[in-house]
Amino acid sequence: MSDPGDLTAFLGTAWRHMRRGVADGRSPVRYPTFATVSPSGVPEARTVALRRANEPDAVVEVHTDIVTAKIEALRQCPKAALHMWLPRSRLQIRLTTTVEILTGAFVEREWDRVPVASRVSYGTAPDPGTPIEDVFAYDKPPVRERFAVLRCTIDHIDLVHLGEKHRRAAYVREDGWRGSWLAP
Ligand SMILES: Cc1cc2nc3c(=O)[nH]c(=O)nc-3n(C[C@H](O)[C@H](O)[C@H](O)COP(=O)(O)O)c2cc1C
Repeated sequence: MSDPGDLTAFLGTAWRHMRRGVADGRSPVRYPTFATVSPSGVPEARTVALRRANEPDAVVEVHTDIVTAKIEALRQCPKAALHMWLPRSRLQIRLTTTVEILTGAFVEREWDRVPVASRVSYGTAPDPGTPIEDVFAYDKPPVRERFAVLRCTIDHIDLVHLGEKHRRAAYVREDGWRGSWLAP
């Protein structure tokens, strides 16, 4: 391993894993937990797919259906946390983000790139979370207008590596992601 005390290299490793997660469906980073705060203040967590990881802007993106509960939560409180655990690398990545909900003309290019078979994830009828009479009493038509990109601008990154000696570091946007070591 390179210098274990190199904060920049530690952060670089996390970004490398996040980029790989976007590209490789078998990476555990592909499916982070995405947590929001409900309008009544209750934490809500669910699995999502990581669709973009851009290090220069410190932005990650997730796709969703505009009528899901997470959108209602984000309209009240535009903050989300993402959590990833890489068992082989023994690395935990936690991101705290401010979320923009992009729809319509802003996401046309992204929609065009969604495989046709995956478009049914955006348009479930009745709306996701609605009680139904029977187990399969729903339809999944693709509905372009329901497609949303959640652009998550990262405010804070917390990394924990479990090694012979554990390492934990925090990075914030304000200081240009310089980072600092924390007791693990
Ligand atoms: C492996 C996996 C991947 C998922 N990917 C997404 C996703 O990218 N976007 C999404 O909105 N929901 C995704 N879901 C479904 C969510 O976990 C959740 O059930 C759904 O979005 C409704 O959540 P909400 O009611 O809290 O908004 C995924 C579920 C699983 C199991």
